[in-house]
Amino acid sequence: MESPSTFPQAMPNLVGTTLREHVLTGMHAAPGATGEFTSLLNHISLAIRIINGRVRAAGLAGLLGYTGETNVQGEKVQKLDQFANDVLLNVLQRSGHCGVIASEELDEAVIADHPGKYVVLFDPLDGSSNIDTNVSIGTVFAVLRRKYPELHPNATDALAPGREIVGAGYVVFGPSTIFVLSTGRGVHGFTLDPEVGEFFLSAPNIRCPERGKTYSINGGNSASWSEEIRRWAAYIKETDVTDGRPYTSRYVGSMVADAHRTLIKGGIFAYPADKKSPKGKLRLLYEANPMAFLFEQAGGMAIDGKDRILDVIPRELHQRTPLVLGSKEDVSIFRDFFTGARTS
Ligand code: AMP
Ligand code: AHG
Ligand code: MN
Ligand code: MN
Repeated sequence: MESPSTFPQAMPNLVGTTLREHVLTGMHAAPGATGEFTSLLNHISLAIRIINGRVRAAGLAGLLGYTGETNVQGEKVQKLDQFANDVLLNVLQRSGHCGVIASEELDEAVIADHPGKYVVLFDPLDGSSNIDTNVSIGTVFAVLRRKYPELHPNATDALAPGREIVGAGYVVFGPSTIFVLSTGRGVHGFTLDPEVGEFFLSAPNIRCPERGKTYSINGGNSASWSEEIRRWAAYIKETDVTDGRPYTSRYVGSMVADAHRTLIKGGIFAYPADKKSPKGKLRLLYEANPMAFLFEQAGGMAIDGKDRILDVIPRELHQRTPLVLGSKEDVSIFRDFFTGARTS
């Protein structure tokens, strides 16, 4: 019989790194960490697993379709949006670590009656127009430290620039459920094993390629674009074998899915301002900032057309912003067209 000391080394490694273990390793690398942030991330993971269960059973559970209500953005609220919002809110409140919680689906920020030191901002269900047709949807969130944790929490705690984010992530409910997380030390992807109910590390250290071959924009808005953006779109579609043009087009209409593809494969995703949406469509705090944090952590770039998203000082909770993110070279080219530095 083999000696017990050699037995473990001879065993193949059947079990991968769980999200829980990854987060715990992060805590050990953070000097003086109390465990609050770790616990907060584990609570978010729990909420996601609960939402995942309902997303996967949506048709069966009668959750498809509209509730008939309209949210603060003036859009129809769908049942899954509401469910995801309630789960995240409940789980985060129970965690006891949040002084302020704000959601795309809530008119006002939720202020705790205790001085929890974190702010969590989220889009509970992104891509809701895709729910009824079984197309990928997701969740996006950002975590910030309250600037004055000793003071009673206040709604303005949520109005910090994205560069102060300490952790952000998104989840894509696609053919599999993928959780992409960064706490400021790179970007790591986890895939849910639905049998076990755990996320396992499946894409460590994701890097966004320097340049891609795909562009992602709602071309149906082109009549409302500025001349500069139209010139960029024409450039992207021109043939030039020396730099891989024309690019190929992919547009899901769920930012999480379009951004996830762009993060992995490179290229560019843009929801610019146009005549119909002069401030852009996407929300700075719930969508643009967490994605911008993740893209920068992965070596990519995120701008509002000209300036870095993470430097925008938010003025209001539901503020919208134009958003352009992706590979550094592709986003830089967009910026050159946008600012008029180049025209062809
Ligand atoms: P805490 O005392 O748990 O609230 O942690 C203080 C800070 O340390 C957090 O805001 C993070 O910046 C960092 N930190 C703590 N735990 C972790 C973790 N598990 N992974 C990454 N960073 C962490
Ligand atoms: P949400 O479902 O959270 O309201 O977000 C929808 C957003 C985003 O997911 C996507 O990029 C964009 O709307 C698509 O908008 P268009 O349908 O105007 O292209
Ligand atoms: Mn959204
Ligand atoms: Mn949403």
